Amino acid sequence: MGPLSPAQLEAYDRRGYLLLPGAMPGVAVDRLNAALPPLFDGAGPSRVLEVDGVTVRSVYGCHLADELFWNLTCHPALLAPATQLLAHDVYVYQLKVNAKRARTGDRWDWHQDLIYWREEDGLPGDRILNVALFLDDASEDNGAMQVIPGSHQLGVIESAPNDRERAGPYQDSPPWIADLIAAIKYTVGEPVLSRLVAERGVESVAGPKGSVLLFHPNLVHASPPNRSPHDRKVLIATYNDTRNLPRPSGEPRPAFLVSRDHRPLRAIDDPRLRD
Ligand code: SIN
Ligand code: MN
Repeated sequence: MGPLSPAQLEAYDRRGYLLLPGAMPGVAVDRLNAALPPLFDGAGPSRVLEVDGVTVRSVYGCHLADELFWNLTCHPALLAPATQLLAHDVYVYQLKVNAKRARTGDRWDWHQDLIYWREEDGLPGDRILNVALFLDDASEDNGAMQVIPGSHQLGVIESAPNDRERAGPYQDSPPWIADLIAAIKYTVGEPVLSRLVAERGVESVAGPKGSVLLFHPNLVHASPPNRSPHDRKVLIATYNDTRNLPRPSGEPRPAFLVSRDHRPLRAIDDPRLRD
């Protein structure tokens, strides 16, 4: 039971993603955007900069810092499809806002997400799902996400961690920073990428602000730099089945990257997130 129709469920299973345009009311998105400046201006480790050392690339754990974002994770537009697709109680494993700022927002290389959670956090299974809320209109011009439809069916594509020289402000940072900056750690490289693109093509996931994009943790995805004059902010809440808890082999990553709060989420009706 849930908001997604049988045809939508079938499309998600086949393609590994599903776009729901207009899932969140515009005024709610405006309120979320209005609440971002203090999170973007804070100087804590949950805020990641681009290689220029100035532009904010991502802010993690917004739901731990501001109740509006916690309540957003319990909004039916996000929580209900996540619960339906995972068919069990869920909690938020990780939440971030990727800013992809006008002119300076950098790329995300081709990658899958699950390999990070498996390698870095000891996540045992794939009963985990991304729910992305577009905080701005996203188009090919401003660096919309690109996906390879159906690539989730391949499972985890094993790849060695990149040990590229770190540029910019993070030369001496903890190892987990390599999961977050532009030169990310586990990428889908050649020749696998070319083969996948030839077989399945690439789709750019454009949509108006307020759209919700559901995507599988093994979907191969990327996004190009934003050279346009328009920001392309997206909030990504990752929901995990409460039976799929990570089993870290050593020191776990910080709580803003891998939540310690595994309580099942229930819907919250926050009037600030209504029409
Ligand atoms: C991601 O891979 O998590 C983010 C991609 C993007 O924000 O474009
Ligand atoms: Mn990703």
